[in-house]
Amino acid sequence: MSSTANKESTGTSSLSSKPSGKSSACCTCSSPLLSSSIGRKWIVAITGILLILFVSGHLLGNLTIYPGPNWINAYAEHLQSLGPFLWVIRLVLLAIVGLHITCTIQLWMENRAATPQKYAVTNTLQTTIYARSMRLTGLVVIAFIIFHLAQFTWQGFNPVTRTWIDAQGRHDVYRMVIAGFSNPFVSAFYLLAVGLLAMHLSHGISSLFQTLGLTTAKLRPLFERAGRIIALVIFLGYASIPLSVLLGILRYPHVSLCPFVH
Ligand code: HEM
Repeated sequence: MSSTANKESTGTSSLSSKPSGKSSACCTCSSPLLSSSIGRKWIVAITGILLILFVSGHLLGNLTIYPGPNWINAYAEHLQSLGPFLWVIRLVLLAIVGLHITCTIQLWMENRAATPQKYAVTNTLQTTIYARSMRLTGLVVIAFIIFHLAQFTWQGFNPVTRTWIDAQGRHDVYRMVIAGFSNPFVSAFYLLAVGLLAMHLSHGISSLFQTLGLTTAKLRPLFERAGRIIALVIFLGYASIPLSVLLGILRYPHVSLCPFVH
C-alpha cells in the first residue's frame, strides 16, 4: 500500500491529530491550511467531496440519454447556454482537481520521507487493493479525463460530430455519444477507466470520513461499506452507457424505449 493510504487507514488523519513534524517541508505557500499536513489532508478530503458531487451530477446528466435524444441534447444545450458562467465552473473544477492532486503528492512525499521502509512493507500486507492502488487509479482517471475532454468536449478525434444537429437545431450530443461508444475499443477503455474510478472512490470515500474525524472503530465498517456502495452505483451508472450502446439498447437513429418521451 502507499504510505499515504497507510496513515489514513490507521487513524492518524482525523482533525484532532497533531500535524506531523514534516508539515511545511514541501509547501511554498504561507496559508496555514496548505502549510500543515492536517490542513492538506482536509483539502484532499474537501476537494474529494466536491469531485464526488461533480461525478454524481455528471452521471445524472448523462443518464438523460436513456429517455432519448431530446433529453440529453436539451441538457447539453442548457449547459452551453450558461456561457461565461460555464467557464467559471470549469476553472473552479480545474482548481479543485489541481489542489486535490498537489496536496496528495505532497502528503505522499512527506509520508514516504517519514515512514521507515520496513514499516511500510509490513503494513502493505494489511491493506486493501483499493488503498494500495490510489495513486495508480488516480493517474488513470486523470488520463481518462484528458481523453474524454478531447473526445466529447473538444471533439478532436472526430470533428464532424461538431456539425451534428438534431431536429430542434441543437448539437446532437446523443448521436455523438452513440457514435463514440460504437467503437468497442473506446467503450472498453471507458469501462476500464470507470472501474478504476470506482476503486479510487471506494477507498477515497471511507478515508475522507476518517480525515474529517468522523470515524470510530464501530463506524469504520459502515463507512467502508458506504464507500463501496456509492462507488458501485457510480460504476454501474457510467458503465451502463457504453454497454447499452454495444448491446444495441441505445442506438442511432433513435428507437424510443420509453413510451412517454419521443
Ligand atoms: C459513460 C460515461 C460518460 C459519458 C457518456 C460522458 C459524457 C460527456 C459529454 C457528452 C460531455 C460534453 C458535454 C458538452 O460539452 O456538451 C462530457 C464532458 C465532461 N465529462 Fe463526461 N461523460 C462520461 C464519464 C465521465 C467521467 C467518469 C468523468 C469524470 C471522472 C467525466 C468528466 C467530464 C468533464 C470534466 C467534462 C467537461 C465538462 C465541461 O467543461 O464542459 N465524464 N461528458
